[in-house]
Amino acid sequence: MKQGRFITMEGVDGSGKTTQLQLTARYLLDCGYDVVTTREPGGTKMAERIRGLVLDADAAINARTEVMLYLAARAEHVETVIKPALAAGKVVLCDRFADSTLVYQGYVRGIEIAKVKALCAFAADSLQPELTILLDAAPEALLQRRADRGVRDRFEQEGLDFQKKVREGFLSLANSEPDRIKKVNALQNTEAVQADIQKLLKEAGF
Ligand code: TYD
Repeated sequence: MKQGRFITMEGVDGSGKTTQLQLTARYLLDCGYDVVTTREPGGTKMAERIRGLVLDADAAINARTEVMLYLAARAEHVETVIKPALAAGKVVLCDRFADSTLVYQGYVRGIEIAKVKALCAFAADSLQPELTILLDAAPEALLQRRADRGVRDRFEQEGLDFQKKVREGFLSLANSEPDRIKKVNALQNTEAVQADIQKLLKEAGF
């Protein structure tokens, strides 16, 4: 039986990931692939409930509690959605995965990276994406872009220093795993970003 392929998309909040994920899914469908799009935290009924808990802005939670919630959601998502889709030969496109945990809970919140890595491997039963597209942009520029469009959301609430740290974390990960994590300039227009993504997919044999 043919084995599916697992691709993730990562980036700072507001980098246009969700739009690009949808465009990428459409492209792969047009290429004849069976595609499943999903997101983290979430992707299953239970994981979406955990998402509600963990993203609830009113609740300040301890960093260890937070990482466990993200990972509980992941374990459920991997077992009930991602693994079955891969076993059925599908392409799974996921909005965020373990790299987000390494960056947000590791680099930013300060939990030791080696520990977060081990926990991520446990939660995902060692499943890893073969390709990760990192939509990269300077947070200052994204903030300006959002202000121009009148968007006010968590990106602003968390502040520029937070987003800068997130970006640094992703860039550091990309440097340590250049074969898997591929950077795309997220400040280009939508079509140009998508063209870069399609180029990367072709290079990966799609
Ligand atoms: P979401 O609304 O999906 O943000 P975006 O559209 O920017 O992806 O919320 C996901 C948030 O959860 C985002 O701020 C990153 C965070 N997150 C973690 O902190 N750790 C994780 O393991 C994951 C998957 C997400």
